[in-house]
Amino acid sequence: MSEYNNIKKESLKPTLWHHYSSMKEVVEKGSKVIVSGNGAVIRDLEGKEYIDGLSMLWVVNAGHNRREIIEAMKEQMDLIGYASLFGGYSNAPAVLAASKLKEIAPAGLNRVFFVSGGSEAVETAIKMSRQYFQVKGQGGRYKVISRKEAYHGVTLGALSATGIRVYRQPFEPLVPGFHHVSAPYCYRCEFNKEPGSCNLECAEAIAQAIEWEGPKTVAAVILEPVMNALGAITPPEGYFRRVQEITRQYGVLLIIDEVVCAFGRIGAMFASEIFNIHPDMMVLAKGLTSGYAPLGAVLAKEELGQAFDDYMFIHGLTFGGHTLSTTATLKNIEVIQSEALAQKSMEMGSYLIQGLQTLRRYRTVGDIRGMGLLTAIEYVADKETRKKIPGNVRFAFKVEQLAWDRGLYLCRASVDKTYVAPPLVVSREQINRIIDILDESIGLAEKDFLG
Ligand SMILES: Cc1ncc(COP(=O)(O)O)c(C=O)c1O
Repeated sequence: MSEYNNIKKESLKPTLWHHYSSMKEVVEKGSKVIVSGNGAVIRDLEGKEYIDGLSMLWVVNAGHNRREIIEAMKEQMDLIGYASLFGGYSNAPAVLAASKLKEIAPAGLNRVFFVSGGSEAVETAIKMSRQYFQVKGQGGRYKVISRKEAYHGVTLGALSATGIRVYRQPFEPLVPGFHHVSAPYCYRCEFNKEPGSCNLECAEAIAQAIEWEGPKTVAAVILEPVMNALGAITPPEGYFRRVQEITRQYGVLLIIDEVVCAFGRIGAMFASEIFNIHPDMMVLAKGLTSGYAPLGAVLAKEELGQAFDDYMFIHGLTFGGHTLSTTATLKNIEVIQSEALAQKSMEMGSYLIQGLQTLRRYRTVGDIRGMGLLTAIEYVADKETRKKIPGNVRFAFKVEQLAWDRGLYLCRASVDKTYVAPPLVVSREQINRIIDILDESIGLAEKDFLG
C-alpha cells in the first residue's frame, strides 16, 4: 500500500504510544511494524518474515490470514456495522455467538455477557459477583481472592485482582477488598515443599484467606487454570479439586480466567475440561476471535443468570458483542473445531516442549514448562541455587531482541522468562526453527551475562 511509504519515518516518532513499552527505546530503534501474516508467519514493513512465536500475545490461535473468518466478517459488514446490546436490542451474530458458546462451554455456563476484551471481562465478572450477592441479600460479600503474580488485566478492578507488584504499584491505592495468596509455583514453592509430597498448601491458602477475611465477606475467587504470566504454571495434581471444595464449602463463586488458556491453547477447547473445573463464571477473550476483532465474554452459570432475571445487571459496554467480533468468533470456533486445533495444540505442544528441553544445557536455563502450546522458559543466575537473575540484566529482553533479529517474534519478555506460544497451526519445521533461534539467542545472551 502506498501510504505505507511514510510509516518507517513515522515509526521513529513517539506519536503512537505503545503499550507496556519504553517509548525512549521505541524512538531510538523505531517501531517494529508488522504489516501482514499467514498461518504462523508474520512480515514486517521490509517484507522480512518472522515466525510468530507468541501468537501475537497468545491471541491468534487459528493463525493469521484465515480467509473464512475474513470473508464472514466482510459479509457481515455489508449488512450492518454496529448494533448495540443495550436495552433489549441486539444483533444477529451476537445472538448466535452466545448460543454457540453455551453449546460448547462446560455444562451449566448458559448465560453469555459480551464485552470488548480480557480486562473488561474480568471487571465484568467481579461486578457480576458483587451484584449477584446483593440481589441474593448477601451484600456483605464483596471481597475477591486471587493469586500473587497472576495477571488479570489493567482496568482498576482487574488490576486489583492482578498480583504483579510492578503493574500495581504506580496506581495504588487500588480497589479495596482484594486479597492475594501464594501461587502453585512448584519450581519456587513458597512452602518449601515438593509436588507429590506436599499437602497442597497453596490451595489451603485460599481457605485460610477466606477465614481471615471473614467467610461472609468473600464474593469470589478468580484463578487462571495455567498461570501464564508466571511462566506457564500448571498446578499440582489435585489443586483444582481442593479449590473447588473450598469455594463450595464457603459459598464463594469460582471465576476461571481462561483468557489465555481457552480455544485450544492448552489442548482442549476450555482448560476447565482438562482440570475438571466447574466454574460459576468463565472469563474469555484473546483466542475467542483469534484476534480478528476485539471481543471478551463472561459465561455465567444458569443459576447466577436467573438471580438477575427480575433485576438488571447494572453494567454495559458500547462495543460489547460488536457485530464484527461476534461474527469472527463464530467462524473462529468453526475453524478450531473442524481442524481439531485443540488436539493439534496438544501434539505440537509436546513436540515443542521436547525440543525446548535441549536448551536445559545452558547454565541460565532453570526451568522449562507448559501445557499444549503454552510454554515458558525460566532463566536463573545459578542453576543449583535457583538464584534469580537481577532485574537490571534484562536477560529475557535480550533473548527477545536477538530472536527478533533472527526471524522470531517473542513479545512480553520479562526479566527472567521467555514465553513460547505459537499459533495452533504451527508446523514441526517451524517449531524446529523456533528452537534453533532460541538456542542461538540464549547462547549469546548467556555469554554476555556470564562470560
Ligand atoms: C489471564 C488474563 N486475563 C486477563 C487479561 C487481560 O486481557 P486484555 O489485555 O484483553 O484486557 C490477560 C491479558 O493478557 C490475561 O492474560
